[in-house]
Amino acid sequence: MVVTDDAISTKVGRDVLAAGGNAADAAVATAFALAVAYPTAGNLGGGGFAVTRMNGAVTALDFRETAPLAATRDAFVDANGKPVPDVRDGIRSVGVPASVAGLFELYDKLGSKKKTWRELLLPAIDLASKGFLVDDGFLETLKRMGERLKKHAVSAALFFPDGTLPAKGSLFRNPDLASVLERIAEKGPKGFYEGPTADAIVRQMKAEKGLITHLDLQSYQAKWRTPMEFTYHGHHVTSMPPPSSGGVTLAMICHILDTYDLRTLGWQSPTALHFMFEAMRRAYAARNAKLGDPDFVKMPLDELLSKAWAEEQRSTMMKDRATPSSEIPSAGTPSGTGPHTTHLSVVDADGNAVAMTTTLNFWYGSGVTVEGAGFVLNNEMDDFAAAPGQANGFGLVQGEANAIAPGKRMLSSMTPTIVTGSDGKIELVVGAAGGPTITTTVFQQISNVIDFGLDIGAAVGAPRFHMQHLPDAVVFEKDGIDDGVAFRLKEMGYTLTERGHLADAPAIGRFGAEWRGAAEPRRTGSLAAAP
Ligand code: GLY
Repeated sequence: MVVTDDAISTKVGRDVLAAGGNAADAAVATAFALAVAYPTAGNLGGGGFAVTRMNGAVTALDFRETAPLAATRDAFVDANGKPVPDVRDGIRSVGVPASVAGLFELYDKLGSKKKTWRELLLPAIDLASKGFLVDDGFLETLKRMGERLKKHAVSAALFFPDGTLPAKGSLFRNPDLASVLERIAEKGPKGFYEGPTADAIVRQMKAEKGLITHLDLQSYQAKWRTPMEFTYHGHHVTSMPPPSSGGVTLAMICHILDTYDLRTLGWQSPTALHFMFEAMRRAYAARNAKLGDPDFVKMPLDELLSKAWAEEQRSTMMKDRATPSSEIPSAGTPSGTGPHTTHLSVVDADGNAVAMTTTLNFWYGSGVTVEGAGFVLNNEMDDFAAAPGQANGFGLVQGEANAIAPGKRMLSSMTPTIVTGSDGKIELVVGAAGGPTITTTVFQQISNVIDFGLDIGAAVGAPRFHMQHLPDAVVFEKDGIDDGVAFRLKEMGYTLTERGHLADAPAIGRFGAEWRGAAEPRRTGSLAAAP
């Protein structure tokens, strides 16, 4: 079974499974298809993370972008100590692209080899050269990000060929991208990090005063990390360790809540929500202040993941009052939010699973398309604390641990996660898109199933909420909260903020002998199972 944010890509993964490929094969082919058919967030110009469980063994693959070697700690700070806009907009916001290295690593180490590398890329090559039909989802993202894309001539020509939005149902072809994919199919990562594609990236960097060089591209390496493993109410959770904050933050939330009987308190009851918000508030305060790239900073992980830390947090949580975030030390002052990223989950016939989340950061990343190469570059530099103590584009206020350094990976919130039951079999394969709302959404997916017994469709469809320490407010989805519950939460001292929807989070679960999946109903998500 495959779930993604795009129907064409889901089918590509399903076909790989149907032809005997394993979960890793399907994830690789699906991710390349997403890079073509879901250019909003699927990518060659970004990066991501994968958590896998293959033949009973778990792994965590880090293919996060890095800061270019020319990016220094204060490269994106103005004279007043504030982050400058080009940390998240345009060519200087680009981290060294990592997806191609990561997908090759996944194929190389965990692919079945019943499918060659080239075979896994062929559907994407086909999609790029023959085209696919423009749908409402694609149009919506183009509309919303049009202004940003049109600032860059190559992006404008690719996405708005006649100066306007493409027509619904028209064919979207990308022959330049097909050529790039051909080179990757032929030469592996060298087809991207060296030769004509690398030349095209560096040419563009030089022309527009970007930072990435040939050396940055040639030295990029995906890394295998020790997965983050912990238990929540007797279930075993495997998630992504730093440089994603996802697994550690999820573990902190789960550890704090592990002693609460949320089910008895009631699904989405004011008291259950209150304890969840307080756990999120404390976990994000620690995340924002203390986490970063493990190759660059020493993090107090033993402390943050200890029972004593969770107990200390619980001891400061009041029974029926919100704790002001100002009373919980973290990294500084707040603001806004932004989109995006994309998650896919795959399980194969042998019960292997891959949870993979990849991103350009915002929709269409930096807005810069590489000339002659047809793919958009990320704006991942904004995931760093460009000016520690000041909010980034997601309103996250982060500290020195996540300050910029040459070659360093920026802290992420991506949380690809696999949950197994006491029988050792997979119960959930989950993850999400949506910046910092990713981790809180993944927690809710897990809690909805484990704590409250919801089926997978109900768990994915349920209203979502988010708390990240600063701003000191809980974000709810539009119409996602009952008036009475909102009234009681306000009485407890919460500020509630409404947003259209939070995160995109397709999921797969096993219920008894049956696998069930749920595409994201808030967007154009899709699900397919091999016969
Ligand atoms: N770019 C969003 C994240 O990695 O958290």
